[in-house]
Amino acid sequence: MERKEFARRRKRLMDIMNVGSIAILPASKVCVRNNDVEYPYRPDSDFYYLTGFSEPESVAVLIPDRKHGEFILFCREKEPEAELWHGRRAGLEKAVEYYGADDAFPIGDLDEILPGLIENKERVFYNMGIDHEFDHHVQNWVNQVRCKIRTGVTAPEEFISLGHALHELRLFKSRAEIKAMRRAAKISAKAHIRAMKKCRPGMKEYQIEAELLHEFMQHGCRSPAYPSIVGGGANGCILHYTENSDPLNDGDLLLIDAGAEHDYYASDITRTFPVNGKFSKEQKILYEIVLRAQEAAIEKVQPGNYWNDPHDAAVREITKGLKEIGILKGRLPSLIKNEAYKPYYMHRTGHWLGMDVHDVGDYKVNGEWRLLEPGMVLTIEPGLYIREHSRGVAKKWWNTGIRIEDDVLVTRNGHDILSKDTPKTVEEIEAIMAHEI
Ligand code: GLY
Ligand code: MN
Ligand code: MN
Repeated sequence: MERKEFARRRKRLMDIMNVGSIAILPASKVCVRNNDVEYPYRPDSDFYYLTGFSEPESVAVLIPDRKHGEFILFCREKEPEAELWHGRRAGLEKAVEYYGADDAFPIGDLDEILPGLIENKERVFYNMGIDHEFDHHVQNWVNQVRCKIRTGVTAPEEFISLGHALHELRLFKSRAEIKAMRRAAKISAKAHIRAMKKCRPGMKEYQIEAELLHEFMQHGCRSPAYPSIVGGGANGCILHYTENSDPLNDGDLLLIDAGAEHDYYASDITRTFPVNGKFSKEQKILYEIVLRAQEAAIEKVQPGNYWNDPHDAAVREITKGLKEIGILKGRLPSLIKNEAYKPYYMHRTGHWLGMDVHDVGDYKVNGEWRLLEPGMVLTIEPGLYIREHSRGVAKKWWNTGIRIEDDVLVTRNGHDILSKDTPKTVEEIEAIMAHEI
């Protein structure tokens, strides 16, 4: 992503913050796996969104209209010995020259410099409650300023959740963000196709997971956007199944919920297909109910529609389908009103998608579902989960977990399915698995 994209974001946030404000954003901490081994580092999305800087032990400070520069970056200094062991650092010079900071200071100087930057500010924008140790530092710096008020300085009176302002910006994706998300979805589509082509009865779920990761990595995505769900048969009915350790059985369905993260942007795609490449009669019937629900929900992704419209459309199709095959009995309106579908479809139809898989942004505004607007990206992911021993449900439907999930951009005239390269109809899936395509 180009540097000017990050500068644009900082400018937009500072326009909202206004003069008299300071925003303080710490980078994510490194998480220890054990002893001196760490988990792969993933920068905090808010921090990266505004800086494009992906090193730990850094703090970004934004001060609109500050004479000596509005963007200040505290980061690690260059240190050949440390870099020999742990990898390259940008250092202070590059923080300014490449990352566009107006000023850069060593991270060790934070305590010395921050109180001075807070002096005479009215408001502090900060995400409280995420990093308790850092919360404590912020309180200390503000207290230090309060202790000096007899010298004529003023201390901030207002603490404002940075997320509130920033997440509204993150909800609307720029051209560059859409490009990154489209790329993430395209790579994930290739991974799902690879999984379909490689799947055979007798393989283990983790072997299919390996195929997904192979495709992600081949295209430069070092990490999935979330742990991949690869669940055969009954495991497809466990919504957040990630053990991925069982054998795949002939005659079962396989549910894969997996998406690559590209340039810190997520994709989130689910496909369900038969382990042996051919849907049984019952599997096809249930699959096509979910597919109809998904298509009806996607149809509702239009600017001006309410957030909840796709969910309502999916619920209607799922309930109608379950009634047609005799799993639900009664009048459609009362089945919907009484949520009779809930034992088989218990989650909602989607969520915002962006840098985080469950991305930021409010779903309701003033107590009402918000309207969809161009630039928003959401998932549409209805499902049907018929567990073993489901009461009053014929055995032929048991152990069937189906979800179909796509990533959908709201456009000016309707929508664009970013994950459209992922095969979805029964015919497409069977043809791919038979290596006809
Ligand atoms: N993969 C998580 C979700 O679909 O929400
Ligand atoms: Mn998903
Ligand atoms: Mn999802």
